[in-house]
Amino acid sequence: MVRILVLHGPNLNLLGSREPEIYGRETLAEIDERLRAAAEAAGATVESRQSNHEGVLIDALHEARDTADAVLINPGAFTHSSYALRDAIAAVGLPTVEVHLSNIHAREPFRSQSLIAPVCVGQISGFGAESYLLGLQALLSRLGAERGGS
Ligand code: DQA
Repeated sequence: MVRILVLHGPNLNLLGSREPEIYGRETLAEIDERLRAAAEAAGATVESRQSNHEGVLIDALHEARDTADAVLINPGAFTHSSYALRDAIAAVGLPTVEVHLSNIHAREPFRSQSLIAPVCVGQISGFGAESYLLGLQALLSRLGAERGGS
């Protein structure tokens, strides 16, 4: 069974009440439940973790070497600032998809640069909570292709 680690970065624990005009009204728990159900339907499993701390996210990536086949990550503002998170993704070497609820390319200029994207399979940005589901689908399809499936 394919195992996906879902990582949510800083401030995403506040989803539902955090700037809903930008990030929507869905809570993190609701998004995680949608991911769990979608993964189950596809014969995969997800483990979701959220942290406001860079080092905790990095430790989770290191652990994923033994416990996951791929990573779905919304790095929050660390997208634009964290060389350490980028290095961790590169070091671990698991296929990783970066997702964002908002379209980071259509907001403040500092958000349009992602330090993370170059070490990811790809980036999905701007579809609200759907970005996570699309990212999961993209990862599963990538893993299927790597294993010679469809
Ligand atoms: C975000 C976009 C980031 O710029 C921001 O710092 C976040 C959320 C998104 O999902 O749209 O915390 O990653």
